[in-house]
Amino acid sequence: MPERIGVIGAGYVGLVTGACLASMGHQVTLRDIDEAKVRMIEGGDPPIHEDGLRQLMHECRDRLRATLDLGEMLEASQIVFIAVDTPPTHSGDADLSRVMTVLDELEQIGATGDHVLVMKSTVPVGTGERVRAELDKRGLEHVGYCSNPEFLKEGVAIADFLSPDRVVIGDFRAADGDAVAALYEPLGAPILRTSVPTAEMIKYASNAFLATKISFINEIANVCEEVGADVTEVAEGMGLDARIGPKFLSAGVGFGGSCFPKDVSALKQLAGNSGYHFQLLTSVIEVNELQKRRVVGKLKRHLGDLENKEIALLGLAFKPGTDDMREASSVVLAARLLAEAASVRAYDPVAIDAARHTVRGVEFYDDPWACVTGADAVVLVTEWPEIVGLDWPKVAQVMRGDVLVDGRNALDPADAVAAGFAYEGIGRVAPS
Ligand code: UGA
Repeated sequence: MPERIGVIGAGYVGLVTGACLASMGHQVTLRDIDEAKVRMIEGGDPPIHEDGLRQLMHECRDRLRATLDLGEMLEASQIVFIAVDTPPTHSGDADLSRVMTVLDELEQIGATGDHVLVMKSTVPVGTGERVRAELDKRGLEHVGYCSNPEFLKEGVAIADFLSPDRVVIGDFRAADGDAVAALYEPLGAPILRTSVPTAEMIKYASNAFLATKISFINEIANVCEEVGADVTEVAEGMGLDARIGPKFLSAGVGFGGSCFPKDVSALKQLAGNSGYHFQLLTSVIEVNELQKRRVVGKLKRHLGDLENKEIALLGLAFKPGTDDMREASSVVLAARLLAEAASVRAYDPVAIDAARHTVRGVEFYDDPWACVTGADAVVLVTEWPEIVGLDWPKVAQVMRGDVLVDGRNALDPADAVAAGFAYEGIGRVAPS
């Protein structure tokens, strides 16, 4: 049955959630405080770069609206997803001010009964219980609250929403969880019903485990370099063990994005607040920081002092398929290279505009060929198909030097060497 859905926060999670629910036949009202964003969505124009989103918004334009007015959204909806920013405060707790504003408005409009708030944003464990207490304090005992963490990956978020591995719903009252579960039932995925704190924890534990897998394989890669083994084959061999699985075992220049770095730190902090020292996560973070910097050592081994050396970074976004620069490894790498007095150029097929605001002192190029021409070394930072598919022998010809650091193990080392490169991957030994 079509439901009346509200979504607070039309960012990446909110907009994808809203568009997908509209595509499933529900009537969706998005609410955001950013007027430009609301106008864009009303005009069918997605304010973020996400594959397939424009098309989806177009297909369900009759069921997807956006407004600045929270009261209007609340009146038009029964199940209200919360997908606002809940940035960590200095103590590692979540800043819930935007969520509290919603509760204030619910109190003001005298919400009569059937609203269910559904937390999509990643919030520290214990947040749901705090919000529940705040609702009760405001006389809003009848308003439901569920935790329904998102597991969307940027770039493939629509597919992740519509074909999830699982849906997790934590509730205080079974009827509220039932209402949320009914929305997801047509997707045919396993639906796990839990308490609210357990649902909140599942999200953190999942992201922290995936980040741990990445830092683990990165350390294996570093050891591979010492002993002459190839990490891509090691990962393949490990991944064939069904208990380990092949995913998230690609060694590289570290993980970035808006989720892993923030969530791993938040979980460590959360454990610390309860008196538990989460030693493993401390290492996961440290390994990731060091991994971003290891490229500098590789470049120095070939070029010596990096002063005035022309280094071309290919790819800036934290991963392909997005213009998201948050916590991207390229940012740390560029800053380290500039600190070594190198001259840094960069190309990205999508993220150049976002990067301009994030990295200073770098020369940006819209064209990969202009970026690599005359470079002493090229570093493949983000494995965009446009970059991996370059005519690499031609890249070797237009460069001044011959150093190629493949930060994502995206190229064939033998081909690279045959093209004339001094090739360095991550955890693999190039044939001489
Ligand atoms: C991540 C999770 O994968 C989602 O399940 C989760 O919903 C999301 O965070 C979130 O909490 O919102 P996302 O940040 O979009 O999704 O990106 P991923 O595709 O998971 O990649 C994260 C980083 O890890 C990227 O920098 C990527 O290059 C790196 N990575 C990934 C590796 O270095 N090696 C791998 O094997 C896999």
